[in-house]
Formats: sequence, structure tokens, C-alpha cells
Amino acid sequence: SQAEKAGFPHFMLKEIYEQPEAIRDTLRGRLNPETGEVDLSDAELSPEFFEGLERIFIVACGTSYHAGLVGKYLFEKWAGIPVEVDLASEFRYRDVLINDRTLAIFISQSGETADTLAGLRLAKELSARVLAICNVLGSTIAREAHRVIYTHAGPEIGVASTKAFTSQLTIFLLLTLYMGRLTGRLTLERAMELSGELVELPEKVNLVIKAVHPVLKELSEKYFRQEDFLYLGRNILYPVALEGALKLKEISYIHAEGYAAGEMKHGPIALIEENVPTVALAPKEGGITYEKMLSNIEEVRSRRGPVIGFGTEGDAHLANLVTDFVGLPEVSWEVSPILYTVPLQLLAYEIAVKRGCDVDQPRNLAKSVTVE
Ligand code: G6P
Repeated sequence: SQAEKAGFPHFMLKEIYEQPEAIRDTLRGRLNPETGEVDLSDAELSPEFFEGLERIFIVACGTSYHAGLVGKYLFEKWAGIPVEVDLASEFRYRDVLINDRTLAIFISQSGETADTLAGLRLAKELSARVLAICNVLGSTIAREAHRVIYTHAGPEIGVASTKAFTSQLTIFLLLTLYMGRLTGRLTLERAMELSGELVELPEKVNLVIKAVHPVLKELSEKYFRQEDFLYLGRNILYPVALEGALKLKEISYIHAEGYAAGEMKHGPIALIEENVPTVALAPKEGGITYEKMLSNIEEVRSRRGPVIGFGTEGDAHLANLVTDFVGLPEVSWEVSPILYTVPLQLLAYEIAVKRGCDVDQPRNLAKSVTVE
């Protein structure tokens, strides 16, 4: 009903706007910014659970899978443990190499996705330590895992996942702080900096939503008739490009592909022309991958492909290179996936609305896929 939407035209938009609160709720009671310490005792997690780990598997479907891909970048850097990320529907039908020194993480907003649940049961059988990241309290995946960390994002009604995703990313940041300190790879100093950033994150997300929503509303006017989009990112923003493309595809029925920008030359560049816009994620904080993104953008532009570039506020170089520039506040590498996700959600939303799509209930899709 209209009342449930709290004045928003769609649940999806309401849920996008709820992200600051959702992230705050995800962090609540789990982070001590004074010491940089993470407390996951609400999930009954203690250092023993992580002792002697040789390998981590992250398994999920859809948007939750994209959160898992971000987790890989974070864990490999700061926990120093090899991570494999699998789509649940693949994981369950291959010969996975798992033992009791494996941590298997299953991510599911609903906690009811059939393939993810089947994967969890398999990992348990193979004696992995099984951790779930779920939003719905008491869901099947939450109940069957050895441990569960709840995202506490609140009910998500829109079929396309928004606040559940950024809350999952927040959990990965908490786990990174936790494991990074356990393994000692993350210095106390860096841990303190990161936790400080996490504390400020809800407000930062709030400011980004307020600042970019009108901009994207206007941009959508220009692009909503296009039928093909390419989304490019690198490194930790590569999964964000995948997620941005998925959002657009899900709710606007526009064909959208997410690609690792470095892979563009191996296929998608053949599609580039005036009527195929590219969404490029290129924050300055990307270091070496920033420079690489710039040359990828040049390659698109030289083939007359329009580029919507998301990057660091005030980056005149990027702004000059792209067709339309959207600036975001500076943020660390670890936190950038959350910040760069938000405008892509809004872009997809505004385009879908202009195309007259049923944003909250896109055709053929279900909120939770409980049959294979
Ligand atoms: C469906 C939903 C997606 C969701 C995916 C996984 O496809 O439409 O939004 O990401 O399932 O759902 P889960 O509840 O397991 O995260």
C-alpha cells in the first residue's frame, strides 16, 4: 500500500533511501571505533572458528553472489586466505575440494534460495565450517548454518535487491576487519582508519543519495531509450559493474552487460557504437587500475560510444574524457563498492520508471527462488 511505501512511489526507491539506516543497523553493536575492534559475538563467532583456515568458499546467487565477489578482494588482501566465489547452482554440481579447514560462506537475503541451501548442505556434509550471511531472521539457510551473521537491513520488498546488498557488503567489511586483525595482516592503524570510515559511512551514503539522485534523474532522460548498456569496472569495482548491469537488466529489461574493463578488448568492444552507452567506474583511489580505466574509456570514446563516468569529485581529467560525469566523494578502496553501488541503483531505477516498467515486480522474476 501507499502507506507502507512511506511516500515513495516504489518500494525499491524507499529501500535505496533506507540504505544509510540499513548500514547503521548492520554495524550496530559490532564495531568499536575507539579500538577498531569488531565484535561478532551476536553470531557466536570467536577466533577459534577461523583458526587454521586454508581456504574460503563464498557461495550465493544473483545480487548476493556479487557481494561475495567483493568479499574475495577484501579477504585475499587483508585475511591473506585464498578465496573462491561460486554461483550456488555451479558449486553444488561440481567436485568442490573442501575439508574441515575450509570456511564456506553462504550469502542469501531471503535465506531460502534453493541452490544456495543445497550448496550449504553439501559443504556441511564435506565437513566445512559453514557461515551464513542472511537478512531474514530464522530463515532456512540461517538455521542450517553453523553460524549466521544477520545483515539487519530490514524487510526488502522490491524484487531487485538494494539495501540487502549494501548491508552484505558491510558485513564483508566487518569480517575483513575481524579476520585481518586475527591474521595480523591488517595493522591496528589501518583497522582504526577503516572502522572510522565505517562509522561515517551511513552519513556518506545519505549525502551521496541526496546529491546524485537529481543528477541521475536528469541523465536517465537522455539514456532511457537505449537498448544495450555496457558496465565496466576493475578490481574491487568489477563486481559493482556486474551488479549495476544486473539492476538495469532486472527492472528496465534493457540488455546490460557487466564486464571487467580489461577484458573489453576480448569481445564487448565489438558492440561499441553511438547507441551503446558505457557506464564506467573510475575512482582515483583505484591507483593503477584508475589509469587503466582511463585508457579503457578512451577506447570506448574513440569508437563514438557515450560514457557515463562515475569517479572522484573534482576529477577534471575523467570529467573531460567522458560524456557525462558523476562525481562521488573520496573513499577508501575497501569501502568504494558500497558508495559506487548507490548511484547505479538510482540510474537503473530512474531508467526503468521512464520506460514505464513495474519496478517493484519485474516480469518473470521472483524475490526468492525457492525451486531450482
Ligand atoms: C532472486 C532475487 C535477487 C536475489 C537472488 C538471490 O533472483 O530476485 O534479487 O539477489 O534471488 O536471493 P537471496 O535471497 O538468496 O539473496
